[in-house]
Amino acid sequence: MNNQSSTTYREIVECIEKKVEEGQWSVGRKLPTQRELAAAFGVNRSTVIHALDVLKERGIIESKTGSGTYISNHDPSNVSKSFVNWNDFSKYSLHPTNHDIVRKINKLELDDSIIQLGKGELHEELFPKRLFNDSLRSLETTYNHYGYDDGTGDYRYRKAVSSYLKERGIASSPDTILPVSGALQALQLITLGLLQMGATVYTPQISYVHSLHVFRTSGMKLKSIPFKRQRLDTDYLRNDLYRNKGSSMLYANPTFQNPVTTTLDGHSRKELVKLSQEYKMPVIEDDIFRDLWIDQEPQPPIASLDHSGHTLFIGSFSKTMAPTLRIGWMTGPADVMEKLSDLRMQLDYGTSFLPQLAMYDFLETGRYDEHLKTLRKELCDRRDTLVYLLEKHIADAATWEIPAGGMFIWVRFSDDINVRRLFSSLVDRGVLINPGFIYSYYHNQYVRLSYTSSSLEEMEYGVKVMRDVLDYLK
Ligand SMILES: Cc1ncc(COP(=O)(O)O)c(C=O)c1O
Repeated sequence: MNNQSSTTYREIVECIEKKVEEGQWSVGRKLPTQRELAAAFGVNRSTVIHALDVLKERGIIESKTGSGTYISNHDPSNVSKSFVNWNDFSKYSLHPTNHDIVRKINKLELDDSIIQLGKGELHEELFPKRLFNDSLRSLETTYNHYGYDDGTGDYRYRKAVSSYLKERGIASSPDTILPVSGALQALQLITLGLLQMGATVYTPQISYVHSLHVFRTSGMKLKSIPFKRQRLDTDYLRNDLYRNKGSSMLYANPTFQNPVTTTLDGHSRKELVKLSQEYKMPVIEDDIFRDLWIDQEPQPPIASLDHSGHTLFIGSFSKTMAPTLRIGWMTGPADVMEKLSDLRMQLDYGTSFLPQLAMYDFLETGRYDEHLKTLRKELCDRRDTLVYLLEKHIADAATWEIPAGGMFIWVRFSDDINVRRLFSSLVDRGVLINPGFIYSYYHNQYVRLSYTSSSLEEMEYGVKVMRDVLDYLK
């Protein structure tokens, strides 16, 4: 689609026909609204209506009363041929598609023309290109295994991750490390391989998994545990565990928790270890933001306090390096890792060796530590800049706490501000934020802002635009 106002109805017809012919828009797909099409093509609604009438006459689209306009069940080149309706199939899939807003955000996050003020990624300026290229060169000699794996991954990578974990207080051996294609895959493996249907998954009141389908689609019940400041209400959890006779597990992202950025205090961590032993409740510790501390090293991982094998510890290089590497790890009791590596064999034959070997070299040569030192200085600078900009431009409309690390500031807008409108007006002005309502209905007034995903100039521009939009909304 283009944005030129000189677009004619014929061009719109051709554009939509092309999308259907090339299979980009399949049968049963709902078309954007007339208003959205008009905005996308930069034309009046009457031009869109004219184009849609032509497409209807040609049998390419059909209107369903009260529901919208859809690609119809006709091949434009052969009216008698019918198609599989993929949309009907996906409706009944175990994994429903993401919420519309989440899909919209996922798309906009890839749009270079948009200022990314919400994304949980490092801006490319923060990627250690020179250092990482040196490690990529090492692949010339280290890449020496060309067959299928047995699901357990590369020994050298597992050994390097085991040393990395030791430095963070977690005892492990290469046999208890399972390479994964990102922390999200570890969560999926645990769900598929270990959780019973109907099990209860406890999680702090608002966390990353609230925006995911990963547990819910597998029949798990997500149950929130109240969380105040740095402390989890472990008494609430104890009472619930006492009453709950079914199987249960706890998911925590205890360090710079996404999206709220808080870190569980030492007391809560110790209590969780006690409860996990008392009630034989496994704990999934997703510690993906641990290395992004700014002011001081965070509390030791829960896994380092647990000497009875109740914790599965997950990490990844998506947040400290780049998510496109798709490389992470999981550690826990050897028999559990063996079971999950067998599951890997059934699903996809294991993680690609290339990122494992690159990260093995990056860790072994000390380049990762060198990168973290530089990164922490950058994070500090960026966090302080964003705090300064928020204070300067939006302090009358919002409140926040300064995070001690991670990537985000969790901002609460005052009740007179409609955050949904703020979100869409900002998108219209080329700035993307992450609204709290994608995590929970109760966090409608919140927004997750990132200080890592834009350049400093973009950050400043983005906050100034936010100021303008707030004035316009008030
Ligand atoms: C808490 C948490 N866990 C896991 C992930 C996914 O990480 P990965 O890219 O390693 O799959 C994210 C991504 O934002 C996250 O915030």
